[in-house]
Amino acid sequence: MDQKQLARIDRYLDEQFGREDDVLRETRAEMSRAKLPSIAVSAAEGRALQVLTALSGAKRVLELGTLGGYSATCIARGLPHDGIIISLELDEHHAATARKNLERAGFASKVEVRVGAALDSIAAMKAAGEPQFDMAFIDADKDNYPVYLNEVYPLVRNGGVILADNTMPRNMEAPFDGGIGRFNVAATEHPGLICANFPMLRDDGIDALMVCIKVGD
Ligand SMILES: C[S@@+](CC[C@H](N)C(=O)[O-])C[C@H]1O[C@@H](n2cnc3c(N)ncnc32)[C@H](O)[C@@H]1O
Repeated sequence: MDQKQLARIDRYLDEQFGREDDVLRETRAEMSRAKLPSIAVSAAEGRALQVLTALSGAKRVLELGTLGGYSATCIARGLPHDGIIISLELDEHHAATARKNLERAGFASKVEVRVGAALDSIAAMKAAGEPQFDMAFIDADKDNYPVYLNEVYPLVRNGGVILADNTMPRNMEAPFDGGIGRFNVAATEHPGLICANFPMLRDDGIDALMVCIKVGD
């Protein structure tokens, strides 16, 4: 299948299944005005996040990598009325844009954006005795994915869900041994996790969303 056909299927999936409403369209528009990189999940993947959140029955969600709050909005839409998200973001400007978007989406009180390196925020959470989460979504810097898996695992309850974005090699000709390649090996070989990988289309080709259940040690 060539690039043009993939792009057409991607558009179909986004239009038919993503079904962005005014809130999500405005979230993307605000990210563009604020000159954030165009690296949020696709509309179709956002809808998948909403469905997975609702299916899991999650009430407490940890997100690594907020950007402009697009995926957080999708996850928030899958939460019950008393659900919450703590979303970790390194970049002040990204976090400020996300807060503005989340406020407009009506999720200001549901989503707390914490600024700082995710590993520092996680260390602070552990030190403060933060209660466990029902679901975590890893979507920050790719080099740290294997470390994020180790750090996030104990923060998710048994029976909870760990999701990770971009878990597909972009080039099958080269060794897949960067952060995500190592993450994929660590997650699939982890005795406490059962993982499946769901291919997702992007403008520039095929990517994937990994979905793991924590079965525990
Ligand atoms: C792919 S984007 C997240 C997209 C977002 N989840 C969405 O789909 O709407 C990755 C984000 O991770 C942030 N990031 C990069 N390194 C980080 C770190 N060490 N700690 C926390 N966030 C980081 C980037 O600033 C960027 O906003």
